[in-house]
Amino acid sequence: MVTRDDVIRTLEGVRDPELGGNIVELGMVTDVDVAGTSVEVGIALTIAECPLRNQIENDTRRRVEAMPGVDDVAVRTTAMTRKQRAGLMSVARARARESAEATQVSPTTRVIAIGSGKGGVGKSSISVNVAVTIAQAGFRVGLLDADIWGFSTPRMLGVEDRLEADPDTKLIVPVDAQGVKLVSTGLIIETEETALMWRGLMLSKALEQFLKQVEWGDLDYLIIDLPPGTGDIQMALTRMLPQAEMVVVTTPQRAAQKVAVRVADMARRSHMPIVGVIENMAGLACDCGRAHHVFGVGGGAELAADLGVPLIGSIPLDPEVVPGGDLGMPVVTSEARSPAANAIREIGDRLVELVPPAELETCTGRIAKILTELEEMPA
Ligand SMILES: Nc1ncnc2c1ncn2[C@@H]1O[C@H](COP(=O)(O)OP(=O)(O)OP(=O)(O)O)[C@@H](O)[C@H]1O
Ligand SMILES: [Mg+2]
Repeated sequence: MVTRDDVIRTLEGVRDPELGGNIVELGMVTDVDVAGTSVEVGIALTIAECPLRNQIENDTRRRVEAMPGVDDVAVRTTAMTRKQRAGLMSVARARARESAEATQVSPTTRVIAIGSGKGGVGKSSISVNVAVTIAQAGFRVGLLDADIWGFSTPRMLGVEDRLEADPDTKLIVPVDAQGVKLVSTGLIIETEETALMWRGLMLSKALEQFLKQVEWGDLDYLIIDLPPGTGDIQMALTRMLPQAEMVVVTTPQRAAQKVAVRVADMARRSHMPIVGVIENMAGLACDCGRAHHVFGVGGGAELAADLGVPLIGSIPLDPEVVPGGDLGMPVVTSEARSPAANAIREIGDRLVELVPPAELETCTGRIAKILTELEEMPA
């Protein structure tokens, strides 16, 4: 059973892209009604008509719809009263003061974390290829390798460079890897010995550094390659990036589903919505004309149905994936139309549909400008 409190916690993940805060703390949620599996949410916008309206409405609908036990969602929007605007202004001002503390990830950036219950199911291969394919489609994409010890993205993207700090801002500048802004511990560590030093570092601290001290710039998407399983990193992520959403990767093997469900459950308990499931290592098409289902059949669809989320796509086992990753040439960059590359390109398109990029056009441009306009606005 969904409760009003559950819905409110979920709404804390919806951000006003301009003011940076979430719609609950900004006092924009006027009411929440839960009747069985139907939820109605009232939202007060600063100004009745603005381009952000669609984004806030869509985010609200998507997030609430993704909650287990919710079938329909109605979102009603109204314009704020003078009193509501005054409340919003004080919260927004406080946030503007605190924003030096916040992460360097823009509130308009869509954050998609790629997770799984088991290791070795293809999270990193998918993160890298999806990041590259979305970048090829013209979006500004970052890739954060949150597998602090087990990093593999630099090798997969063929990066030799090391991370350096911007002399002016002192922030770390991501490395450009095939059109994607990449940050990974693998871009800091020189030798196995330095790798050992990093083991002493708290994982969540390393992630925090990557979010607060990296010059991410204006990105449309930040893809996060998670380490396997549930744990510190996932928790730290929801705390620091409330806009993060999760994609769960699984193999078609039915027995793998129980472990995958655990990750999804953890995501939900920390109010991170699940965008959908990607099945990897599905049937291998053979020249002999048959498909070999090495890891079984149907696990992805089953997990998606269990979680009540879409199956975003299914990637076949494909001999092109392994050398592509080893040689730093992700399959989606190769000319050859390999089956995995085709599936990943479709997954990229589907992800952009499911998690559309934030509207670039905003009502008034900058926070300061918004605040002034609100102040001048008649009751
Ligand atoms: N569709 C595929 N076809 C063939 N090989 C694949 C496919 N997907 C991934 N692989 C291979 O499987 C291995 C594991 O993939 P990857 O490192 O991406 O998994 P992971 O989930 O990130 O692992 P870890 O949990 O260790 O981080 C790699 O060698 C990769 O090249
Ligand atoms: Mg990995």
